[in-house]
Amino acid sequence: MAKGMRYSSRSSNRRSSTFTLVLAMLLMLSFVLLMMLALGILSLPAHNSEMSKANDLSSVAHNTVPKRTGDGLGERRDQWMEVISWEPRAYVYHNFLSEEECNYLIDLAKPHMEKSTVVDSETGKSKDSRVRTSSGTFLKRGQDKIIRSIERRIADFTFIPETHGEGLQILHYEVGQKYEPHYDYFLDAFNTKNGGQRIATVLMYLSDVEEGGETVFPAAKGNISSVPWWNELSECGKKGLSVKPRMGDALLFWSLRPDASLDPSSLHGGCPVISGNKWSSTKWIHVDEYKV
Ligand SMILES: *[C@@H]1O[C@H](CO)[C@@H](O)[C@H](O)[C@H]1NC(C)=O
Repeated sequence: MAKGMRYSSRSSNRRSSTFTLVLAMLLMLSFVLLMMLALGILSLPAHNSEMSKANDLSSVAHNTVPKRTGDGLGERRDQWMEVISWEPRAYVYHNFLSEEECNYLIDLAKPHMEKSTVVDSETGKSKDSRVRTSSGTFLKRGQDKIIRSIERRIADFTFIPETHGEGLQILHYEVGQKYEPHYDYFLDAFNTKNGGQRIATVLMYLSDVEEGGETVFPAAKGNISSVPWWNELSECGKKGLSVKPRMGDALLFWSLRPDASLDPSSLHGGCPVISGNKWSSTKWIHVDEYKV
């Protein structure tokens, strides 16, 4: 009896020490998991509706882009990317430029502004046009340290080397000024001699615009009224998928599809400014190296 008692008490000791061991291991495991979560090695599945529906125009992917220091001018605010359309392929990179960089570009261009022209598809020369009523000027590619830093940033954004880009164009639209919908690609042989076809455009907004001045894609596929800023758009802006100008934001869209065919859904225009002033800067990028 006494022997049996001793035996059973020893076995309950063993049972309780097994229990303690299991408990300790569970604790250790949860500690390790917590550490991994904290260090970002593990991540919880995102139930974030923002990330889930790539083809939904209202979907917004908000990912912070790592900051590179010692690059450009001034402090850039929270940088994040938004897919706004797949047809055409179009993205908005928020706070691509700092406020200082926007003002720097405007100040560089201001003394040289001339009435904007369009390219004549027969002669390849610039000509006056009613479809484009802004004023503008071209900067030289790699003109100075700040321009080079912006151009390198554009190359990082598009994955296309700086050497494929034309010089930055700075544009100014006053109240009533606009750019009718057009394609950035060329339909003639003359304009594709240098650098081949234009493949992509990066349009940077250098100022906010109180009303109007949207970039509109009238041929975009998808539900154009599902953008969160729909109610803020002008009548012209509601004629397609629209992006509202915001100082520092950059709009990237592709004029060619991934198979290099022309993409007619890249048709775009600048809506008339209704109130305020619009400053923007355009970088046209070619398939091949563009000689300047
Ligand atoms: C388009 O989006 C708006 C706003 O989200 C919605 O009210 C409307 O029903 C959608 N239209 C279609 C055809 O899906």
